[in-house]
Amino acid sequence: MNLVDQILNSTDRLPSFPMVIQRALQLIEDPRSSAQNLVDVLQFDQSITANILKLCNSAYFGLRKTVSSLREALVMVGFDQLMEIILSQESASFLQDSCKGYDLGQADLWKHSVACGLLSGIISKRLKREASLTLFTAALLHDIGKMVLGHYVQDYFRQIKNLAGEKQISFTEAEKEILGIDHAELGGKVAEKWKFPKSIISAIQYHHAPSLASEESEVVELVSLCDIVAMITGIGGGADGLAYHGNREVMKRYHLGEKDIEQFIVKLEDRFQLVNETLDTKRGGEGRLWLTMS
Ligand SMILES: [Fe+2]
Ligand SMILES: [Fe+2]
Repeated sequence: MNLVDQILNSTDRLPSFPMVIQRALQLIEDPRSSAQNLVDVLQFDQSITANILKLCNSAYFGLRKTVSSLREALVMVGFDQLMEIILSQESASFLQDSCKGYDLGQADLWKHSVACGLLSGIISKRLKREASLTLFTAALLHDIGKMVLGHYVQDYFRQIKNLAGEKQISFTEAEKEILGIDHAELGGKVAEKWKFPKSIISAIQYHHAPSLASEESEVVELVSLCDIVAMITGIGGGADGLAYHGNREVMKRYHLGEKDIEQFIVKLEDRFQLVNETLDTKRGGEGRLWLTMS
């Protein structure tokens, strides 16, 4: 079996994506669905429900009334914010482990992913586009391929790093040359396997080469922008950040300059500081990272 086939087979190592969230994502894409449809689906997952209630009743939200059901949480916190919390929480089960190949410690990739999710809202606002949960999800999961490819990158790290240096190419391009596949392409395969909507698959697959995407180009470009800004801040950059080639074309296309990037960073740092101050990452009862707001 060649190396690419071995790598593709090892995507089985990832846990399957929670059915409840898969269904929730399909509902979000469906214009006929309502917030109530979403509550109907989510309420069957006890751990999601329990966690949401705990978060909604924490000091972070400062709600005067105790929230005792998902329906109430939806009313008090709002649909989009509720889904963002659920998606951030659930993604920890795939992204919390250290990823040695990329020099990422425990929860580093998850922090990078949450930063990209937050940036999707910040950048959408600046571009006067409505923040979308599809974009948030794509930004949150864009590096999922690293969780599989990290094992192989670790074995070939010297070769990848040397090639990136010699040819002055990005770490991702060197990954592709040495391993035959890069984490973006592999992530796209994982997203296909998880039956994600096409726009999310495309954004994951092309987040380092948005010009190659044939469809949903705006979601792809915005995810690539979120990644560039997160990399500049150094949140969860790891080894990839050593030879990262941000796509300036995307910035030009959206008429964004250095000043805009600076503002995105300030806003992200504000929100991230708030996250760090009020969200304490620690191990939960099921051996995964939980976000707790104290
Ligand atoms: Fe990436
Ligand atoms: Fe990234």
